[in-house]
Amino acid sequence: MSPTRDEPPSTDRKPTRRGFFGWAAMGLGLFASAAVGLTVVGRFLLPRSRGERTRRLYVGQLSELPLGESQPFRAPSGETFLLTNTVDGVVAFNATCPHLGCKVHWEAQHDRFFCPCHGGAFAPDGTPTEGPPKDENTPLKPLALTVDGGAIYAMVPVA
Ligand code: FES
Repeated sequence: MSPTRDEPPSTDRKPTRRGFFGWAAMGLGLFASAAVGLTVVGRFLLPRSRGERTRRLYVGQLSELPLGESQPFRAPSGETFLLTNTVDGVVAFNATCPHLGCKVHWEAQHDRFFCPCHGGAFAPDGTPTEGPPKDENTPLKPLALTVDGGAIYAMVPVA
């Protein structure tokens, strides 16, 4: 039966190949745009990897660091560290106080690291024991050490 003038035109549409590919192309375009957009936004919103670059640095001979002695050394990053032979073994800590950045030093007579600025003190393992660092529970930052044939190496930050 053919439509007469009194009947409205039919709204039934059969899917066509052209229509299908048009929708598919638009879908792919939206997907690609969303992927690029999420990548760009993610770089700004997500924290960057804290993967600090380090390298192995010779810092001294075990035989030249008697028990209770401490000696500073500088990393390629410019930071100063304290290599210290404590009763718990040889340790290395960043000499910068985590409170406000003064330089700490080793006090063998008290078996502790001490910051003169506000009386901050740290145990030989870097744990804060007195002053603002204890209140804020901010330890000294350690370095990983290895001893190879009496030579001491530290994994130091490069930049
Ligand atoms: S800067 Fe070291 S205790 Fe304040």
